Amino acid sequence: QTFSIASIPGDGIGGEVVAAGLRVLDTVAKLSGGAVDFDVTEFPWSSEYYLENGHYIPEGGLDQLQKHDAIYFGAVGSSDVADHTSLWGLRLAITQPFDQWANIRPVTFLPGVESPLRKADDTDLDWIVVRENSEGEYAGMGGRNLSGRGPGNEVALQTSLHTEKGCERIIRFAFDLARTRTTKKVSCVTKSNAQQFGMVLWDEVFARVAKDYPEVETESVLVDAMSAKFVLHPEDLSVVVASNLHADILSDLGSALAGSLGLAASANLNPERRFPSMFEPVHGSAPDIAGQGVSNPIGAISSASLMLDQFGLTAEAEEVRQAVSNVTEAGILPRDLGGDSTTVEVTEAIVTQLEAI
Ligand code: NAI
Ligand code: MG
Repeated sequence: QTFSIASIPGDGIGGEVVAAGLRVLDTVAKLSGGAVDFDVTEFPWSSEYYLENGHYIPEGGLDQLQKHDAIYFGAVGSSDVADHTSLWGLRLAITQPFDQWANIRPVTFLPGVESPLRKADDTDLDWIVVRENSEGEYAGMGGRNLSGRGPGNEVALQTSLHTEKGCERIIRFAFDLARTRTTKKVSCVTKSNAQQFGMVLWDEVFARVAKDYPEVETESVLVDAMSAKFVLHPEDLSVVVASNLHADILSDLGSALAGSLGLAASANLNPERRFPSMFEPVHGSAPDIAGQGVSNPIGAISSASLMLDQFGLTAEAEEVRQAVSNVTEAGILPRDLGGDSTTVEVTEAIVTQLEAI
C-alpha cells in the first residue's frame, strides 16, 4: 500500500526536522519489505519563497495538496516577514480550508529526559491536549483603526467565534479519544467566569455531551487554574479539551514540562477525511539555532508516528515511539535536552533502534 505525502519543510529548522521524519518513514517502508511505501512530494513554500513570489501558496496549491493522503509540515516564521503574515499565509491557509478542526498534542514523558515535573518515584505521566483548531480566538475576525481617530487613539477589535457545532464536534472528539485510554477522563478548559458568552456555551455543550459518555469521568476547569494543575497535579490529567488559544498555550506548557518544546508532536486532523490531515511538530522555526544542525528532531518524528496512526499503521507507529524512547533512555540526546548529539545523530540512532526492534 502506497501513501502519498506532501511535505512542506517551510522555514528555519523546519527543513532539518522534516528530513529527519522522512528518514524514519523511509526506514518504516524499508522494514515492511514492500508492504507499505511512502510517496513524498516536497513543496518549497517558505518565507523566502513568499518574498520572491508574493505568496506562500501559489494558485492551485491547495488542489495539489488535496491529492495527497497527508501533509507533513515543518514550521513557518522568519525575521523578514511579520509573524501574522507567515502564519496566516501558510499554516492557517491550510488548516482552515481543509477544515482540520481537531488538533491533538500529546504530552509525552520520555525515559532519560530530565523534566521539571518528573518525581523521584518516576510516575508515568501522559496526557493529551485536544485543541479546537478552526474557530475561537483564531477565527480571524476583527479589525484595526476602528475609532477612525488616527495614531495614538487607535481601537482594535479581535473577536472570538464559538459555534455550538464547533464546540460539540471537538468535545465529542475528546470524549471518543478518552474512551480509548486507560484513564477515561476529559477535562474541559474555559474561562467562563470572565467570558460569559462563548465560554459559557462551551461549558453547556460539555455538560450535555458528557451525558452520552457515562463511563468517562469529567471536570470543568478554568484556564488559569488548569495551568497551575499542569504543574502541580499532572497525574490527574488524561484528555484536556480547550479552545484554540487556551490549548495552544497549555500545549506549549505541557511540552516544556515534559522536557522541551522540541519534543512535542501534533496532528491537525480533518476527522471526516474529506481533506488530508496535517502533521507537524509544535515548535516553530527556531531562528536562534537554524542552520546549525542541532535541533531536536523528536517532535517531528513523533508527528510522523501520528501520521502512521492515521494511515492505520498503528503497529509501525508504536515501533517508532518505542525507538524514540530507547534512544532517549540510552542518553542519546540533542542539545535542548542537555545532550550533545546533532539532529542527524539522534535521527540515525532512532533508525538503528527501529531496525533492531
Ligand atoms: P520556536 O518554537 O521557534 O522557538 C522557541 C525556543 O525553543 C527557541 O529557543 C528554540 O531554539 C527552541 N526550540 C524550538 N524547537 C526546537 C527544536 N526542535 N530543537 C531544539 N530547540 C528548539 O518559537 P519562537 O521563537 O517563538 O518563534 C520563532 C518563529 O517560529 C516565529 O517566526 C514564529 O512565528 C514561528 N512559529 C511557527 C510555528 C509553526 O509553524 N507552527 C509555531 C510557533 C512559532
Ligand atoms: Mg503554539
